[in-house]
Amino acid sequence: MARIPRQVLEHFERIPLFSGVSKKGLRMIVASADEITVRKEKDLVREGEHGRHLYVMVDGRARVVRGGHPVATLGPGDFFGELALISGAPRTATVTTETETTVMVLDPRRFDVVMEEEPRVAKAVMATMADRLRVIERSITH
Ligand code: CMP
Repeated sequence: MARIPRQVLEHFERIPLFSGVSKKGLRMIVASADEITVRKEKDLVREGEHGRHLYVMVDGRARVVRGGHPVATLGPGDFFGELALISGAPRTATVTTETETTVMVLDPRRFDVVMEEEPRVAKAVMATMADRLRVIERSITH
C-alpha cells in the first residue's frame, strides 16, 4: 500500500470514531475514504434511496430529517449512513447540509473489512446505531 502522509493519518486519528485504531487500520480507513466539500442545502443521502456509503462529518453542520420531521443535527466527528451500510435496507432519513460541509465518504466494501479487523470501530458504530434505532422505534410506536 502507498505511504500515507503523517498529517493525513493524524487527521483521521482525531476523529472519535477512529480513535484507538491501529496504524494498519488507519491506513485501511484512509484508503477507503474520499473527502468532499459540499455547499449548504445539499442532500447527502435521501430517505428511501439505496446506498451503502458511510459518511463522517469533518467540518460543518447537517440536519437529519425523517418523514418530514427533523430528528437530529450532526456536526464534526459525527457519522451517518451506518444503518443502510449494516442492513442493506434503504436510507432511513435524509441528511442535508446546513452550512458548507466537509465529509469523508467511506467505501462500504472496504469499510466492512475495517469493521471486521477493528472491533473498536465496529462497537462505536453499533452503539450509535442502537441509539438511533431506539429513536426510530419510538417514532413508529407513538
Ligand atoms: P441511513 O439509514 O443509512 O441513512 C440516513 C442516516 O441518518 C441513518 O443511516 C443514520 O446514520 C442517520 N439517522 C437516522 N436516524 C437518526 C437519528 N434519530 N439521529 C441521528 N441520525 C440519524
